[in-house]
Amino acid sequence: MAKKLKIGLFGFGCVGQGLYYVLNNSTGFKADIVKIAVKDKTKERSVSKELITFDKWEILNNPEIDVIVELIDDAEEAFNIVSEALKRGKHVVTANKKLLANHLEELYKLQQENNVSLLYEASAGGSIPIIRTLEEYFDNEELEKVSGIFNGTTNYILTKTINEKLSYATALKQAQEKGFAETDPTSDVEGFDPKYKAVIIALHAFGLIIKPEQILNLGITTLHDNDIKYASEKGYKIKLTPVIQRLENDKVGILVAPRFVKETDQLFNVDNEFNGVIVEGKFSGEQFLQGKGAGSYPTGAAVLSDISALSHGYKYEYKKHVQKHASDFTNDVFINVYFRYNSIIDLDKIEFDEITEKYTGTDYNYIVGKVNLQTLITNRDYILKNNLFISLVNDKIELNTKTKISIKEKQLINN
Ligand code: HSE
Repeated sequence: MAKKLKIGLFGFGCVGQGLYYVLNNSTGFKADIVKIAVKDKTKERSVSKELITFDKWEILNNPEIDVIVELIDDAEEAFNIVSEALKRGKHVVTANKKLLANHLEELYKLQQENNVSLLYEASAGGSIPIIRTLEEYFDNEELEKVSGIFNGTTNYILTKTINEKLSYATALKQAQEKGFAETDPTSDVEGFDPKYKAVIIALHAFGLIIKPEQILNLGITTLHDNDIKYASEKGYKIKLTPVIQRLENDKVGILVAPRFVKETDQLFNVDNEFNGVIVEGKFSGEQFLQGKGAGSYPTGAAVLSDISALSHGYKYEYKKHVQKHASDFTNDVFINVYFRYNSIIDLDKIEFDEITEKYTGTDYNYIVGKVNLQTLITNRDYILKNNLFISLVNDKIELNTKTKISIKEKQLINN
């Protein structure tokens, strides 16, 4: 039978309060929040004063508490709290994608060394149960690709500005007021937040531990009316989409960038704060999961589901990592993009391998074609500084031809 857990909660912001509400209004599952550690001594709280502490050790050193729920903003302080908790034999639930993406290796080891469980379903896709789906349902199947919309704030902004003609500033403000955005929304709009989520998903889908710095993230900050016009004329919507794809050489390619999405695409109608995840399996084909990707109650519900799983002794086995499902990660790949540029100097910097469409006008210029991902990584700052805009035109990552030739040569030699 499930054990009634005693919880020490860190953080009582949007998600912390969401968890408190969801837990207290849940009919199927009971657990006690014994203490809540917060930073701000001046803030009025909606819970009894006895529950609140400003001293993290009061929770970490309390032998009565068996589960730590970490929901604070600061990823490095969160790492200190989570690692101290794991070392003390306490199970942990967190929603902190930055903490996880930056410290996956250490956190993986700490769980093994201390025989404790760290669960984090709420860290990627909000209420969408993607991590447990990958870990438990797709544990045996080789996956080809995981892609989708992993950020509620940017999806909300894109929906409101493009479909409903709100200004960018108003849409962002609404996303902040509704509790979707990070405290520093740069993480959302520049694509860091969905990149952290892609790092976490890459571990459970392909078994790879990849550092966020290795992955390109382009956001929506340089999106211009002309880009929206181009997309609308072709019947596309613009979505910020991470793509994590197995390549021919068993390596994995990853990036986070805006993408033109066709009406026939599953993601076309995923609007507002909703997220969508497409999982493509070798045998099962395409699966599509959709749900609220941000917000107090949906995220609180995902945290509660992890707490409930802990009461049944659940832990991730990192099956794809143990089975070594992919060999490595590479950025030596080609992607097909739309590139809006200002002058010929920009084209010297961002060199295309193939060009399929080109427009030079008085108002703006663009080309559509194939570019090496590494070129965009090298010039990311240049792109942002000069207000240039890149959007994927499809969700395909192609291995560099030179690498392809060497695989063919290797096969010939082997034969
Ligand atoms: N800021 C994040 C988002 C919150 O907008 O998706 C959920 O992780």
